[in-house]
Amino acid sequence: MSRTASRTTVGIVGGGPAGLMLSHLLQLAGVESVVIETRTRGEIAETQRAGILERDSVRLLVDSGVSDRVLREGHEHRGIQLRVDGVGHRIDFQELAGASTWLYPQTDVFLDLAEARARDGGDVRYGVSESSVADVTGDRPAMLFTDADGRDHEVRCDVLVGADGSRSMTRHSVTGRQEYVRRYPFAWFGILCAAPPSCDELVYARSDRGFALISRRTDTMQRMYFQCAPDESVADWSDDRVWAELQARVAGEDGFTLLEGPIIAKSVLPFRSYVCEPMRHGNLLLAGDAAHTVPPTGAKGLNLALADVRVLAEVIERAVREADRSALDHYTPRALDRVWKAQHFSYWMTTLLHRTPGAPPFDARRQLGELTHLVTSRTASALLAEGYTGWPRSGRDGGATRPASGIWPEPTR
Ligand code: PHB
Repeated sequence: MSRTASRTTVGIVGGGPAGLMLSHLLQLAGVESVVIETRTRGEIAETQRAGILERDSVRLLVDSGVSDRVLREGHEHRGIQLRVDGVGHRIDFQELAGASTWLYPQTDVFLDLAEARARDGGDVRYGVSESSVADVTGDRPAMLFTDADGRDHEVRCDVLVGADGSRSMTRHSVTGRQEYVRRYPFAWFGILCAAPPSCDELVYARSDRGFALISRRTDTMQRMYFQCAPDESVADWSDDRVWAELQARVAGEDGFTLLEGPIIAKSVLPFRSYVCEPMRHGNLLLAGDAAHTVPPTGAKGLNLALADVRVLAEVIERAVREADRSALDHYTPRALDRVWKAQHFSYWMTTLLHRTPGAPPFDARRQLGELTHLVTSRTASALLAEGYTGWPRSGRDGGATRPASGIWPEPTR
């Protein structure tokens, strides 16, 4: 069967939040794009992912006209609880960094973006199969795929973007990659349960039994995690066993307990730090999880992906406007600046709160020393608050920021 040949300016492989946000920003800049995605819209919407947005991610969704639903239905969090061996300490983001984060699950970010792309006539092809890329380092790279109706296509473009997640097919199509990997001797066991919230803010708990995170979804549905072995089997964990473990990890003299309910979903989440450099290979540019992954402890994955595509939209717009691909050279250094800050932050939050199996007792004592410093020193807490709420756009990943609109007071740093 012959392929239908077509052309576009930017071919985007991957229709998750990174790919859709890029396509949206490019349209605002007058640059045409086509997005292909192997999953159906329904499949992506059903995937459970993390739920915290930095202030600048919220700002991007609202100010670029995707949707302001996050402001109406998301929950502003002005701090978090750090729970150390059953004693709670609040880290006040507003006081320390002049910023908040928003609890707004990635699924909702995807739904808003998918809706906005449909509303604005964006060309997004869900449910494609047999997808591959060709001539990625040449002048006219291509996306090859079979659409959801079984028709074969070849879309030639000027620039190709790989926003196709951590197992990225586009990344694997290029050679000369420098990869940095850090593995951890643990993973997260995640649950979704039908129960009321146990607390207003997220609780990050360190205990001798290991780490636990108490997050939220809605008034009737909650998301929680606890540190487990990387090869942990979900089948070994009855609801009763899960609740006993979570309760034991947060228990303390203040009597804090989790409100329990039926567990709707259980899964073991992979855990690693990874960066692929450079993020540009000829006319292929990698974004989001295709270029880097972080452990979930710092809630940075989605925020980093959105920060990548914000930079990417700017450099692609300039390259197209000036008909000069050298503008694309700025992508790797500008994006990596934030990527490595986020890598450090996520690694730090992880090692600060998890128990490392087999580590000498010194390590656990040293970890407690660090946590004591963190919760008693304003300078140390401010470092956490600044990293968690997201570094302001400045320096190498900067460029012009929009003027403050009132909803977004600039931090008093
Ligand atoms: C979540 O709500 O899924 C979540 C929140 C914070 C994290 C990771 C996951 O650090």
